[in-house]
Amino acid sequence: MSTIEGTALDQRKFRDALGCFATGVAVVTTCTDGEPIGITINSFSSVSLDPPLVLWCLDKNSDTLDVFQKSETFTVNVLRDEHMEVSNRLAKPGDHSLEGIEMIGGVNGCPRLVQALAHFECEVDARHDAGDHIIFVGRVLHFDRAVEGEPLVYHRGSYRALSIDS
Ligand SMILES: Cc1cc2nc3c(=O)[nH]c(=O)nc-3n(C[C@H](O)[C@H](O)[C@H](O)COP(=O)(O)O)c2cc1C
Repeated sequence: MSTIEGTALDQRKFRDALGCFATGVAVVTTCTDGEPIGITINSFSSVSLDPPLVLWCLDKNSDTLDVFQKSETFTVNVLRDEHMEVSNRLAKPGDHSLEGIEMIGGVNGCPRLVQALAHFECEVDARHDAGDHIIFVGRVLHFDRAVEGEPLVYHRGSYRALSIDS
């Protein structure tokens, strides 16, 4: 059991509290010698502007861990509100194949989601061991964004739409 200074930490409550932080949703893709793969994540964050660095975290229990550990590149594809099906599909254990999802090759050799709201093509800058996750820091080699479109939002364990336009 996890503890905070000797007090038992209720993992369910911890997850519920973390879920109050609304995030976007992204698919991280990569490719080694074999099939290209993708996984749904919401742990994406910007890190540095100069040099341009971003990060995301991968559960050590993920089926995709070996592939991401071997690969020196990955691409973060920011999902649109219409990408719920893609998000759900690539959040399922066992099948991370990108078959049937419209992709093109990026400059870093990883597949890129054609309809993504934005993408960040990276080479791995660092991997940090962090509890039950690995933090992947990527140096951005190429990026782009769509001028129009709404993001897929994740909050309290559900997908949401943006409601404030200021
Ligand atoms: C909205 C959303 C965000 C997620 N964020 C992450 C994440 O940041 N890191 C992670 O390792 N898993 C994340 N997951 C879970 C993975 O997508 C899921 O565990 C994985 O695809 C299951 O397959 P695997 O066991 O083969 O990894 C997220 C799932 C959803 C639906």
